[in-house]
Amino acid sequence: MERLENKKAVITGGNSGIGLAAARAFVREGAKVLIAGRNQETLDQAVADLGVDAVGVKADVSRSDGLDLVFDKARECFGTLDVVFINAGVYEKASLSALTEDHFDEVVSVNFKGALFTAQKALPLMGAGGTLIFTTSMANVVGLPDQSVYSATKAAVRSMVRTLAAELAPQGIRVNAISPGPIDTPVWGRIGVTRDQLEERTASTVPMGRPGQPEEIAEALVFMASDESSFMTGSEIAIDGGRAQV
Ligand SMILES: NC(=O)c1ccc[n+]([C@@H]2O[C@H](COP(=O)([O-])OP(=O)(O)OC[C@H]3O[C@@H](n4cnc5c(N)ncnc54)[C@H](OP(=O)(O)O)[C@@H]3O)[C@@H](O)[C@H]2O)c1
Repeated sequence: MERLENKKAVITGGNSGIGLAAARAFVREGAKVLIAGRNQETLDQAVADLGVDAVGVKADVSRSDGLDLVFDKARECFGTLDVVFINAGVYEKASLSALTEDHFDEVVSVNFKGALFTAQKALPLMGAGGTLIFTTSMANVVGLPDQSVYSATKAAVRSMVRTLAAELAPQGIRVNAISPGPIDTPVWGRIGVTRDQLEERTASTVPMGRPGQPEEIAEALVFMASDESSFMTGSEIAIDGGRAQV
């Protein structure tokens, strides 16, 4: 039997990187997925790649009207939801002296505000047995230069996972987080880091000496989305090649 048979899932940021790898793994395990992102071209490519069990919605999840598009479509396609993977995020660096209010507002509005309100808008479609999974980061426990805003948003999400786990347990809804280390996704290209540079950097900073692949995150996400993790809530699984562990 497939591990996510008959499950219906929303994945924000499902058109790229970790979210797309999760969508592939969820579909492989029998789920139907709705993926959300802002880039129509990568959304269309992802839906074509995922096949008949996937739909795409172009939406900005940092905005209330964007989230309405996502969950109205989920209601129309699925009726109810079992899994919501709250993964959309932006990674931008700025030193304390260089950071601006615009940088703060952009990163906080996607990574923190967007994540919280995604959970809020998903809730009416969820019931007992449902699960929310957030993407945090090793940055929520490690001090890294020029990441004061990004890292704080991920620490905020980690805290929110604990709060929502307590709050939603009486409804039978589990809330957990995945905490990746450096993973080889398009996010690095967006800030001008090449694959060679990522490999060079991780060779010396990650105990396993390499970046992770998004598929290595996706396999843990299948466990977290499935009933195999039925006694797990408020938790975070770190998959970081040891970067924040040893
Ligand atoms: N890669 C790493 O090393 C790493 C490490 C730790 C944590 N993470 C976290 O993992 C998550 C996924 O990142 P990734 O590495 O897979 O990067 P990615 O390939 O750049 O994916 C980011 C995804 O988020 C979506 N997104 C961003 N802002 C959005 C918005 N306002 N509305 C809707 N969608 C939005 C993007 O969609 P569009 O392209 O359509 O905008 C894209 O699908 C993020 O939360 C990131 O912080 C990544």
